[in-house]
Amino acid sequence: MMKSESETVGSAVSVDTSAMSIKTRITEVYLPMVKMRCSDLFEKMKEYYHKGLERSKHAYSCTSTKIRLWWGDFQLTTTGRRLRRLTKSPNMLLRIGLITLALVIFYLWASGSTNDHQMGYIVNAENQQLSYVYPRVFNNPERDLFMIGTFPEDFLWGVATSSYQIEGSGDVHGFSGKGDSIWDTFTHRPGNVYNNENGDIACDSYNKWHEDIEMLEYLGVQVYRFSISWPRIMPDGTLSVVNEAGIAYYNRLINALLEAGITPVVTLYHWDLPQALHDKYGGWMDEQIIRDFNSYARLCFERFGDRVKTWITINEPWVITQLGYGSGAHAPGIADDGFTTYIVAHNLIKAHAKVWHTYDDEFRHNQQGRIGITLNSDWVEAADPFVANRMLQFSIGWFAHPIYVNGDYPEVMKTVILEKSRIQGMNDSSRLPEFTSVESEFIRGTSDFFGLNHYTTVYATEMPDDADATPGWEQDVNLDKWYRHNWPGSASPWLKAVPWGMRRMLEWIKMEYNDPKIFITENGYSTSDANELINDQNRMNYIMAYVDEVLKAIELDQVNVIGYCAWSLMDNFEWAAGYSERFGLYYVDFNDEDRPRYKKESAIFYSQLVHNNGFVNSLSVVTSSSIFVLLTAQLAVIMSTCLCR
Ligand code: GAL
Repeated sequence: MMKSESETVGSAVSVDTSAMSIKTRITEVYLPMVKMRCSDLFEKMKEYYHKGLERSKHAYSCTSTKIRLWWGDFQLTTTGRRLRRLTKSPNMLLRIGLITLALVIFYLWASGSTNDHQMGYIVNAENQQLSYVYPRVFNNPERDLFMIGTFPEDFLWGVATSSYQIEGSGDVHGFSGKGDSIWDTFTHRPGNVYNNENGDIACDSYNKWHEDIEMLEYLGVQVYRFSISWPRIMPDGTLSVVNEAGIAYYNRLINALLEAGITPVVTLYHWDLPQALHDKYGGWMDEQIIRDFNSYARLCFERFGDRVKTWITINEPWVITQLGYGSGAHAPGIADDGFTTYIVAHNLIKAHAKVWHTYDDEFRHNQQGRIGITLNSDWVEAADPFVANRMLQFSIGWFAHPIYVNGDYPEVMKTVILEKSRIQGMNDSSRLPEFTSVESEFIRGTSDFFGLNHYTTVYATEMPDDADATPGWEQDVNLDKWYRHNWPGSASPWLKAVPWGMRRMLEWIKMEYNDPKIFITENGYSTSDANELINDQNRMNYIMAYVDEVLKAIELDQVNVIGYCAWSLMDNFEWAAGYSERFGLYYVDFNDEDRPRYKKESAIFYSQLVHNNGFVNSLSVVTSSSIFVLLTAQLAVIMSTCLCR
């Protein structure tokens, strides 16, 4: 054996054999020289072999043309016939591996110690490990402890979107027949939207709806909440023209959803009013809108109601009135707070009730569906419970009280606004319109469930009365809203992660509105365009914490929550913020005209949550980044054990 080695040093093939056999017997050897001829090396090998050293920490690799033999920090390549220092020797790899591991551990430690979003544990005095999603901020054991458990069997998991935010006009590949909405007009007026962005293409879901369905299938959700664009199917808002191409689009979407086993939950109005109706009589500012909204709704029931069994009339009337007609930050951009806002709200409530009755009288019997409204509200925390209650009555109660209680506005709104109107010189009339008793009777009880959009919590304190202040909703409420400085933030200035607010909100609705079935139609978290594009740990923590509070509300407070939709399926046009705030479980590349979608970590997490119908064991979630960390650690351990033997 040794003979053949020394004789065949110049030939790659035979060196291969000899080197391998030597290598298997040679052991720990330290070569102090930097360069050495091959033949000398093999002499050395033979020498050590004869000394009978047994264990080897060296390695070899060979291909048909080349053999490499590693010896400590040196490498022999038969082609070069030279021994040279390795750039990546085993020892070097070991060092790199251990350094990487140390860096990963440091990163995790550092991010944990500086990031209030970080989930984790706290060990208490009795040495019990307590799990919190935000241990540094919310660690009250009675309130914030993470609860393991699953949801009721028939709980509905879903995701939500809306037409203007995702569809695009559809005109990219030809004429879609869609009329303009107030958002088309508003976004094309410079200065209204961040970067003057618009929804002309948005996520191009008008053309890419089948990809949206694949994403929904991956998530495993039971429901998909989307909205119908009124001007897509009725371009001028009336029955004078029905755009069959638009109807066909929603038919394709609904049919494909049903084929995929996903139930459509359809919102009739998610803010894209036909521009023609705004031009004709002022849209929501005039009560003619009630008749037109009803015709539009009837058309939807006729054309889609055989397959759509859950309808939402209007999304977030509070936002429509306050931002669309109060501050003017949303379309149609009217700023007449305290006057027009109350009129618009009045028409929205009456239009909702009208449509509910149309469904109830003409369609319910045959179609066997349900119809409700979606209201939004922050939870309000205040030292004085009357202060919190007042703010809630002015926001969610403005719409919920007429619909779920008695057909009329909350007492506190009526009293305060009347009093202020008098002081403001309006004699005996209030800026808040009144319902007749017939109207009240017509409105009361017009919702089969309570649709809730909830995102955040605010603190409220009473402000000193200022008689000279400009009339407006804020001035009527007369409360100061603020956030605690340490509440975890998001890319949206108004959105802080305060999970326990969700449970309190749900319990308040249960008590206030006689234990309705609550469908959480939106809840979600925004990231910016610069961070967490795919690896969105903060979104996962937010959803995990908020959903856990829903679980507590169901299990501990017996709140009747029937479903939860995450906002949103994918990044989309976020109204006045354009594309700068991303709410999606899927990333959308808005710089690519094809609008490709990419799965975020939160999509993986959400699909597990849906699959498990809740939280089945520990707080931690397995994501590709956590897998990466685990693999890195394992690799480092394997390398050190192999190479240090
Ligand atoms: C809701 C709205 C959605 C979405 C979300 C995130 O108020 O219904 O369309 O924009 O907020 O801001």
